[in-house]
Amino acid sequence: MKRDGQTISLWQHETLPYKTNTEELPNEADVVIVGGGITGLSTAFQLQLAGKTSVVIEAQEIGFGTTGGTTAHLNTLLDTSYYEIKNHFGEENAKKTAQITKQAIDLIEKNISEYSIDCGFSRKQAYLFSQNKEQSNELEKIVIGAKEVGINMQYSMSVPTPIPFESAAMADGQGQMHIIKYLYGIAEAFEKAGGRIIQNCRVKEHVNSNKETFLITSKGRIKAGNVVYATHIPPGINILHFRCAPYRSYAMAVRLKGENYPDALVYDLYTPYHYYRTQEVDGIRYLIAGGEDHKSAHTENTHYSFLKLESYIRRYFDVDRIAFQWSSQFFESVDGLPYIGHLPGNTENIFVATGFSGTGITYGVASAIILTELICNGTSQYKELFNPNRVKLVAGFENFVKEATDVVSVFIGRRFGIKEIEDAIELAKGEAKVVKYEGTSLALYKDEAGKLFALNPSCPHTKCVIGWNNAEKSWDCPCHGSRFSFTGEVLNAPATKNLIKFDLSHLEKAQQK
Ligand code: FES
Repeated sequence: MKRDGQTISLWQHETLPYKTNTEELPNEADVVIVGGGITGLSTAFQLQLAGKTSVVIEAQEIGFGTTGGTTAHLNTLLDTSYYEIKNHFGEENAKKTAQITKQAIDLIEKNISEYSIDCGFSRKQAYLFSQNKEQSNELEKIVIGAKEVGINMQYSMSVPTPIPFESAAMADGQGQMHIIKYLYGIAEAFEKAGGRIIQNCRVKEHVNSNKETFLITSKGRIKAGNVVYATHIPPGINILHFRCAPYRSYAMAVRLKGENYPDALVYDLYTPYHYYRTQEVDGIRYLIAGGEDHKSAHTENTHYSFLKLESYIRRYFDVDRIAFQWSSQFFESVDGLPYIGHLPGNTENIFVATGFSGTGITYGVASAIILTELICNGTSQYKELFNPNRVKLVAGFENFVKEATDVVSVFIGRRFGIKEIEDAIELAKGEAKVVKYEGTSLALYKDEAGKLFALNPSCPHTKCVIGWNNAEKSWDCPCHGSRFSFTGEVLNAPATKNLIKFDLSHLEKAQQK
C-alpha cells in the first residue's frame, strides 16, 4: 500500500492496497465522509449501522494519510493530562473526556470481536516514568488527575524497559493493534453493511444550492445530506486553520538482540516525549519507538530527527537492526482538546474532526461515536466540550498564534534571501531548496538520478511558503500542514490543488554544456 511519504511504515510491510466493491461515485448519500483514515471509516461505519447511507471518499487509498503512519497506541491517558483538562475545562469535562476515550477503545475491542478482525489487538497497561525532579512533580499531578477522572493509575516500582527512572506510574485499560489490519477489517464490514468507499477521488469543495449540499469531486458531483471532513484540516479557509498546528513525529520498528521487548505501552516525560511498545507482525516481534516531534516544516534536516531517535533507542536497548523507520503528521489544537462537531462558518450539516495530538486512533474512534450522535440525534453529551467553535484561550495561546506568524515571516525571508539559480543547479543529488531566479521563486529538488524538479513554492491553500522534508522527500507547508510530493502532487489537505510546476528544460540544457 501507498502512504504519504517516501519512508515505509511497519504497517505497509507486505500490505496490498484495499480493493473496494465499487469505483463508481453514487449520486447521493445521507452522509459523505471525506477521508479514508481511522476517523473517516469509523464514522462512516457507525453511521451506516445507525441507518444512514454513507459514502467515504478518499483522495488516494484508505490508510494513505496519518493512519498509515501512526504507532497505534490506544490510550485513555492523553497528551493533555487530566489535571490540565480539569484546570481549563472543569472536572466534569475532564471526566467526560476520560469516558469517551474509554468508550472508543471499548468500541474497537467490540468491533474486533463482532467482525472477527485479525489485527493483533491486545489490552495493555501503560507506564509513565520520570527521570528528574521536575518530571516527578509532573507525574504526581498526572496520577492525581487520572485518579480523579476514574482511571486506575498507581505508582509502580518497575517499568518494563531497561531505561533508568526516578519514579513511575502504571495505568490499566490501554490497548494496541496493527492499525491497517483493523482499518481494512472495518472497511470490509462497512461495505458489507451497504456503505461505499470511493478511492482515488479528490473532493475539491462543497457547495450549497437550493438548500441542498453537493460535493464537487474529481469523479463528479455527489449530493450529501451531511458532510464530515475527516482530513485533519478541512479545505477552504476556516477558523480551525488558526486553532490547529501541524506537527511531525518519528517512529522506528526495531528488532532487538534477545527477547527484552516491553509488554506494555511506555512513555517518558520529556517534551516532546518518547514512546515505546511491542507489536508482533507475521510472527516477528518489533519494538516500536517514537518521538522527536517538531512543528511541520520547522526543521532544516528532518532526517536528523531519525538519527536522534535511533541514538536514543540504542542508548537503552540492544538493537539488532532498524527494520522500518517512518514519520507522520498530526495536529495539535490550541487548547489541548480536539475539535469534533459542526464546522464553523458552514451550514449545520457540515462536520469536522481534528486536533487529536498524539492520540489519533483513540480520538478518531471517539469522533465516530460523537459525530454519529450529532448527525442522527442532533445532539450529544459531548457537543459543547468538543465544539470546534469553542473559544477557550488557555495559557500559551498568544505564543501559539505568534509561532504560526513567525513561521510565515521566516520562510518568506528565507525565500528572498538566498542564492541565485546557479547555486541551485549545483544542488547535490537528493537535495532541495527554495531559491529566487530571475524574479521568480522556485522550490527545487534534484533526484538521485540528477533530474531537477521545480515548483512554485507558494502553497495553493493560502500562499505560505513550503519547506523541504528530506526524510519523506516532500514539500511541507508550515502553516496548516498541506504536503506535496517532490513532483508537486497534493499528499495532505487542506490544499486541494497541486503546486504549480515550472519547466526547467532550458536550465537542464545549460547545465549539460
Ligand atoms: Fe495553508 Fe499551506 S496549508 S497555506
